[in-house]
Amino acid sequence: MKHTRWYKNRVFYQIWPRSFADGNGDGIGDLWGVLEKLDYLKELGIGGIWFSPLYPSPNADCGYDISDYKDIAPEYGGMAAFEKVLEEAHKRDMKVIMDLVVNHTSDEHEWFRKSRERIDPYTDYYIWRPAGKNNRLPNNWDSHFEGKAWSWDEVRQEYYMHLFAVKQPDLNMDNHFVREEVKNIMDFWLSKGVDGFREDVITFISKKEGLPNDRLLPVFRGIFHYNHGPRLHEYLQEFKHEVLDRYDCVTIAEAPLVSPRKALEYVDEDGSNDFDMMIQFQCMCGNCLFLDYIPTPFSLRRLKYAFSSWQRKLNGKGWNLLYLENHDHPRVVSRYGSEQYRVESAKMLCASYMFQQGTPFVYQGQELGMTNWYPEHISEYEDVQTLNNHPNWPEEKRLKLYHRASRDSARTPMQWNSEDNAGFTTGTPWFHVNENYREINVADQLQDKDSVLAFYKKAIALRKKLAVVKNGVYREYMRLSGKVYMYTRTDGMHKLLVVASYSEKPVRVSPAFCTGFTKTYFDKNNCVLFNYPVSENGAAFTMRPYEVRVYYCDHL
Ligand code: GLC
Ligand code: CA
Repeated sequence: MKHTRWYKNRVFYQIWPRSFADGNGDGIGDLWGVLEKLDYLKELGIGGIWFSPLYPSPNADCGYDISDYKDIAPEYGGMAAFEKVLEEAHKRDMKVIMDLVVNHTSDEHEWFRKSRERIDPYTDYYIWRPAGKNNRLPNNWDSHFEGKAWSWDEVRQEYYMHLFAVKQPDLNMDNHFVREEVKNIMDFWLSKGVDGFREDVITFISKKEGLPNDRLLPVFRGIFHYNHGPRLHEYLQEFKHEVLDRYDCVTIAEAPLVSPRKALEYVDEDGSNDFDMMIQFQCMCGNCLFLDYIPTPFSLRRLKYAFSSWQRKLNGKGWNLLYLENHDHPRVVSRYGSEQYRVESAKMLCASYMFQQGTPFVYQGQELGMTNWYPEHISEYEDVQTLNNHPNWPEEKRLKLYHRASRDSARTPMQWNSEDNAGFTTGTPWFHVNENYREINVADQLQDKDSVLAFYKKAIALRKKLAVVKNGVYREYMRLSGKVYMYTRTDGMHKLLVVASYSEKPVRVSPAFCTGFTKTYFDKNNCVLFNYPVSENGAAFTMRPYEVRVYYCDHL
């Protein structure tokens, strides 16, 4: 089937279902809730939805531990509700993609239950190893969430590998039965009408033969033996040729520790083209080293380097996925912007990424400028990754780190209005609502033409209207500035310029001087998007705290 690459013309929205909208009042977000909000998404300009996992799951990792790949969890509404959402989304010309989590399953999946009892063909579905001398672990790899990467199974009397939580055993992708299962799952959803997949830590599925020890520092120990492993391409090609090629779908890889050059091994449209897009992590490292849990001061230079190297290196070869938030990181306003200048900085961040080349993703609540959540006690946190970070530290120190790094900040319920529980549920919400919902919510922002939400709507509409945003050449200016991010997109007569201040201090800029655009280009009528009133026609100006301007002209 022809691959039309429809995703290049759309903006996606990520729904993390548990906290999006509760339709039946049991306190848990669900697909009935989603159904009621489809028009809201359409109005925003959304052309595709990525659902974080909706499958039955014991929720040891909020749905990323799946116990049945071919069903929808009853608390989310079951298959009937999903089919309805799919149909209604398609009616509104919105695509729907699923999260495909096949590096691991839940330990409560039937496959794992049979595997631990050595029932064929499941015996080798997982990565089992006997204990070494004195019960030694099979190797020294670390898991990302809970200590070492191995846990002992009493039933089978062997260790199993889990690169994430103890309840997330890794599948043995070298077993062709397992690959058959994966292809089966893909085919199941695609033939139902789903439009593609976001593939969870998919670059981890092929482990180096012999599972050798690693000498890296803790936390990452082992990663170079399983990230981009030896048979990864081979397996991806198998999935592609046997299933994905039969559908006009999109495939997106979640890819930790990947450089643009490495990414091209997967997304080059003239090459193997294993995936259409990759979720890289460099744009998440503006205020940390690799992980939110290794904080550093915010560095705009580092962030700009990430933005620009991906823009430059993929240009003309592969397609970027653009994002600033998802369910795995705290809120971007709190990270790269300013809670004090929340509205200004949320808009500035929006324009910073929305006009780059690629397909933008917006995470639920990002379009409102939602901020981090600051609970008073550790016991209020829910997430397995959070709670296993420095469990032995004193409470106060832990709390400080979690306030800054926990992904639970992105998992508080969506703030729909200023009524009880932010309008998320009529029942008792499964998780804490951020206290600031009276100031930050959809209902108020829909009434306010200067809201963050209104800005997102304008930015998305503009992006769709201007062809230069899809095709234009990207170029960055003032690269060494630690305060200003400036870039242009040009094609022939069309010139778009974004200039964004990441500072609360005034900054003087002369974009005309940098870019060579004529002075008349900086006519205030060419300023098509802004977060402060623009009254001057100057080719140089002083930027206010977190100011952003987007200029566009098609006739110079
Ligand atoms: C991915 C998911 C994350 C999950 C992990 C393990 O990184 O985005 O939420 O915890 O994989 O499945
Ligand atoms: Ca519910």
